[in-house]
This record gives sequence, structure tokens and C-alpha cells, in this order.
Amino acid sequence: MTTPVAVIADAVAYARAVEDAVKASAAYYESGTSALDDDSYDRLVRAVAAWEAEHPDEVLADSPTGKVAGGAVEGDVPHTAAMLSLDNVFSPEEFTAWTASLARRLGGDAERYSVEPKLDGLAIAARYTRGRLTRLITRGDGTAGEDVSHAIGTIEGLPAELAEPVTVEVRGEVLMTTGQFEHANEVRTAHGGAPFANPRNAAAGTLRAKERAYTVPMTFFGYGLLPLADTEPSLAATLGECAHSDLMARAAAYGVNTTAATAVPGITAATVEEVLDRVSEIAALRPSLPFGIDGIVVKADLAADQRTAGSGSRAPRWAVAFKLRAVEKITRLLAVEWNVGRTGIIAPRAVLEPVEIDGSTITYATLHNPADITRRDLRLGDRVMVHRAGDVIPRIEAPVAHLRTGDEQPIVFPGTCPRCGSGIDTGEQRWRCESGRNCHLVASLSYAAGRDQLDIEGLGHTRVVQLVEAGLVADLADLFTLTREQLLGLERMGETSTDKLLAALAAAKAQPLSRVLCALGVRGTGRSMSRRIARHFATMDRLRAADAEAIRQVDGIGSEKAPSIVAELAELAPLIDKLAAAGVNMTEPGALPPAPTSAADDGARTAGDDAQALNGAEAVGAAGGGPLAGMTVVVTGAMTGALEKLSRNQMNELIERAGGRSSSSVSKRTTLVVAGEGAGAKRAKAEALGVRLAAPDEFAALVADHLDTVAAVQERQDA
Ligand code: IVH
Repeated sequence: MTTPVAVIADAVAYARAVEDAVKASAAYYESGTSALDDDSYDRLVRAVAAWEAEHPDEVLADSPTGKVAGGAVEGDVPHTAAMLSLDNVFSPEEFTAWTASLARRLGGDAERYSVEPKLDGLAIAARYTRGRLTRLITRGDGTAGEDVSHAIGTIEGLPAELAEPVTVEVRGEVLMTTGQFEHANEVRTAHGGAPFANPRNAAAGTLRAKERAYTVPMTFFGYGLLPLADTEPSLAATLGECAHSDLMARAAAYGVNTTAATAVPGITAATVEEVLDRVSEIAALRPSLPFGIDGIVVKADLAADQRTAGSGSRAPRWAVAFKLRAVEKITRLLAVEWNVGRTGIIAPRAVLEPVEIDGSTITYATLHNPADITRRDLRLGDRVMVHRAGDVIPRIEAPVAHLRTGDEQPIVFPGTCPRCGSGIDTGEQRWRCESGRNCHLVASLSYAAGRDQLDIEGLGHTRVVQLVEAGLVADLADLFTLTREQLLGLERMGETSTDKLLAALAAAKAQPLSRVLCALGVRGTGRSMSRRIARHFATMDRLRAADAEAIRQVDGIGSEKAPSIVAELAELAPLIDKLAAAGVNMTEPGALPPAPTSAADDGARTAGDDAQALNGAEAVGAAGGGPLAGMTVVVTGAMTGALEKLSRNQMNELIERAGGRSSSSVSKRTTLVVAGEGAGAKRAKAEALGVRLAAPDEFAALVADHLDTVAAVQERQDA
């Protein structure tokens, strides 16, 4: 886990390294504009420390290793008790060594530890007098900090008035959540300001800014509670004796925001193993948190242990930061590519100077749409802050505006479709080629033939290219009228492959409506949504007769999506007619159509359709029943036993057939997580949120009746 540290060769290199670190640190604390990302800074300081260990007589007075981070500024407010920094460890071994040294000081193991996320923001002291928030002070050099009371009222989680009229100081971290950061940069650039590079810089800049024409919200998380000079003596005594975990409970009861309200609440742990388990859990949850963390803080929980261990001038000896790997690096934006997707959407993608983040080399990052580029004020050649956590696609947080040289160039948006040269429909946020699905026919056909859509074996990307280039297919429906002669006329198509493909195409015609819908690639609907729509309407005719209001009745479709689905279906009408004429099934087996709500609706029903839909031998789980009714279920890890052969898509089908709703992410709304072998982050999140967990076998028993149907479909497909 430890990042390699550069070696400093001589005293000159050492002096330069100290100077660089001092400059970076000052910029970081004063204006939130360091030229070094956190990882580079940490490495520099560790290289400095390594050289100093070898040359103890040559240590420079201003070395970053010897002092509390951040320098004091004139006119600062003295702190009641020093606001210390934390020592870092980078691996379980280093952590274990730290606990051993703590045990030596305590004359035995710490009674218990408190373990909480290390929030990536700025330390702040908030003074409350008789329950009213009177003063906000930054950490400064640890002994005195800057008065930033002007920010009172802009920090969520730091109430103007506590639930009790106590005189106390609350310490904690001010940060911006991802959402607050995006909002802050949007507002800032709209006011002609340069964007902040990341949420931390944004919080630093915003906290110190005095007379701005606008205010943007930030968030506070408390991690300390202490008496002030005029705190009532009995309360002061109580606070002095409270364990850290009790102080946090007290702060929360006063109305202060703490990590207790997040997916990574502070906990207490009795052993080193328990602490390390919690470290892994928090690390696994990191990518899904709506705010940045850069480590885990472990503290001796008891006040008595803390007192015995004591503090150094820079950091307490009773607490340590277990640092996680950096998820952010600065690199250069080299170019923007414009790729056309299967539905004709023209999506920009950032090409980056390759940079290593958390063990992988990043060369591309997503950019959502052209407006996103404008909003972020990105320019070619910009140095950009890139964020990558877990398996999430890397994203550009913002340009690092203060590193601009003036040579950066505007990003040119395409005037015509970069793939086919057609015009571009720029009417919506996401631009689209006017040829729509036909622009990238190969992509749209390959997708339709895919395993989770029509599952046409033998129709891979290469074969699709061949068919399109030979002029045999110009849309999805053409696939179903291909003749044996046409296929035999293609290169590398013998009799066997031809017959196999024809059989696969014939089988595909019988796929349920949900898969046909998915294959059509109706924008705004994926696999799960296609299933919900198909089950709701039961037949294509009824779906096509539905207006936006009727479509809104489908679970998960809101007022924004409904009209766009209506429009998409209208656009797809000729293709749908052609597919139906070619014999493609347009009904959902087992689904019950909704009860008619009006005469017009009733008229849209065709007797044949309904009979077909209701005839299915798989008439189960319809109309809200089933063992999973009302439940939102997430599947993670490898399935075993009766579920072993099911793809993730089929697991989701199973959930929905059993009356539940399938989802891919765990949240407070999740009711059940089916966790198989190798389950990681989602399982950890479920545990943290207290969501019920089930092993694959347990779940199989729960949905046994419905398992047969999905298994039958699977067998038919295998055959
Ligand atoms: S305790 C005396 N707890 O990390 C103990 N600090 O690198 C001092 N931080 O200055 C702090 N989350 O700004 C503590 N849960 C947490 C924290 C935390 C973030 C920051 C804080 C501190 C810095 C040290």
C-alpha cells in the first residue's frame, strides 16, 4: 500500500525539497491552490523526512516535518488548546507498530479505539456561547487561526443554535460534498471566477472569501468537543472525562453533524484486528461516499488513555491517521474525442496525459456533454484534477486554473456528426446525430444481438460489420428477413454457420417484449426499466397507445422521462412495425395489462394481444404480488447453488418476477442484498447501513417458485 518515495541525493536537493514543500503547504492552506496534489506532497515530505533521519544535524528550521501544517497569519485568534495535526501510517504493519508504541506508553493495550473516516476538508473550531454559534476559527498554525465567522450560516451541520444552551467548542472538518462542489464551481464560473480544482480547494477558498456576491453551501462534520474558558465547571469536568465516542454522541445530541449520519459512522473497536477490518470497510465504501475522505482516523477512545499517552508539539500520541491511497492527480488535458454511441448520442471524452492513480494508468475521463465542458470552463492543454476511486470511471473534477499559462486553447465542438457527417440535434443537453440509430448501425445491431437483449448467438461484431457492409441489413428488422442464400453468399459463412445463425434468429423472434424493447435501445431505458415497462403494459400495442401520463405509472419513470419515452417510441414506430411484420414477438409472457382507465385506453387493447400475454405458462409475480413484493433487492458477488448459472441480468429478471425491484447500488432504500462469494463494497455498505443480507441459497429458497421459470428460460436458451 505504501507509495514509493523519491530519494534525496544531497543537501542541495534537500533544501530545494524543503522549499517546494513549504511553498506548496502555504498555498494549500492559504488559498487552496497548491501546484502539488496530495499524493505528490506526501511523497515529498516523506523523502525530506528520510533524508533528515540520515542527516539529523542538517535539518532546516522550516522543514515541513517539524511543524504543524499551515502557517499563522497576522491578527489570528489564539486557540484555547492547540489544534494539532496527525501522524500518518500507510499499511497494516505500520499501524500495528503504532499500536505497539502506544501500548508501551500506556503500559498495556489501549482499552478500546474509536475509528472514523478522515474527512478531506479543513479543520475548524466553532465556538458556542450559551448555545449560540459566535465564532469560527481556522486551524492556522495550530496555536492561532484566522477568524472566519463571516461564513456562519453557510455551513450545513453547524447549527446557529445548539439544542442545549452550553458554552463549548466544537472542532471538525469543513468540506464540500461532490454536489456542493459542482454547484460552487457552476456559480463561480457564472460570476466570471476561475473554477476550484477540487472540493477541498473549493472549501478552503470559500471559507476565507469575505465579500463575495454569492454564497455557496458547505458541510461540517464534528470530530472534537471541548470546554472553553467560560464553560460551566461541571460540564468542563464532564467533557474532560468523556470517551471520544461519548463526546461524539453528545455533539450529535446538541445538533452538530457528525459521521454518525453517514454510511461510514464512527465506531469503537476493541482490538487491532477489529480496527483493521473497519479500515477495509471504510476503504471499500469510499468510492460511493458523497464526500472525500483521505484516510481513517484511529484514536484511543478513553480520556484516561489519551491523557497518559499525551501529545507532541505537532500531533497527539493517542491518535493516528491511516492514510488511503490518493484518488486524485493533476495531469494535462490533451484532447477531447467525440464518440457516437448506438443511439446516435455524440459523447465527448477527455484524452489525458497518462497518469497513475491508485495503481492504474488513466488515459481517458468522462465528460458528460458539451454543456458540461462549458460549465467547467475546460480548455485544451489545461492541467486538470482527475479523480478515480474504485471501479468508477475516472472523471475530471476541474481545471487547475492557477496553473494556466495562457497557451490553453478553447475546446472546439463538432459542427456535424463526427461519424457520418449528418447534422447534429443540439436541442438537448446530450447532442445527437440527426441520423440517430442509423448513424452507428453496427453498434446498435451488435447491442441488440447481445446476450441480455435478443441473445442472437453467432451474431458478433465482425458478422454485423459484414452484413452491414454487404448491404444486407439497414436496420434491426432486416436481420429477421435474411435468407439462407444471402448468408451463404458471405465470406467465411459455411452451411453450418448459416443454419446456426438462422436458427438463432428464429429463436430470437420469440424473445419476450422486455428484451425486444431493450434491443430497440429506447433512450432512457435499460434492461431493468425495459422489463418494468413490458410487464406493466404486457403488449407493444398497449405501450404504443400509452401517453406520457400512462407511462408515468410505471415504477421508476418520472415526469421527465415519460414524454421522452413516448417520443422515442414514435421515432421507432416504423422499425417496430417492420419487426412485428417479420414475426418478432411483441408480448410479455405472464404479464397482466393494467386495468383500463378510460374508454380510449380500453379501445387500444386488442383481443389477440391480451390472450397471448395472459396465456403464458409463466403467469406469475404479476400485479404486485410475489415473495419480494415491495422490496428493492441488490445482487453482488458470485452466485452459487441453484443460482449459479444465472447471469446478473437473469438474477434481476428473477427478482422482478418475484415481485421485487432490482437495483445495482446499495442505499438506505435497499431492502435486501444477496451477497455471494467475493462480495466486497456492496456487502460492506449493506452492513454499514444495516440492510438485510442473504446468502445465495437462502435467497433461492425465498424465490423458489419463480426460480423454475427463469431456469426454464435459461434452459431454452442453452438448447
Ligand atoms: S482528530 C488531535 N479526526 O485531519 C486530533 N482529525 O491530518 C486532531 N481530520 O487536523 C484531529 N477527519 O483537520 C481528527 N475524524 C477526524 C478527522 C480529522 C479529518 C483532519 C483534521 C486534522 C487533520 C490531520
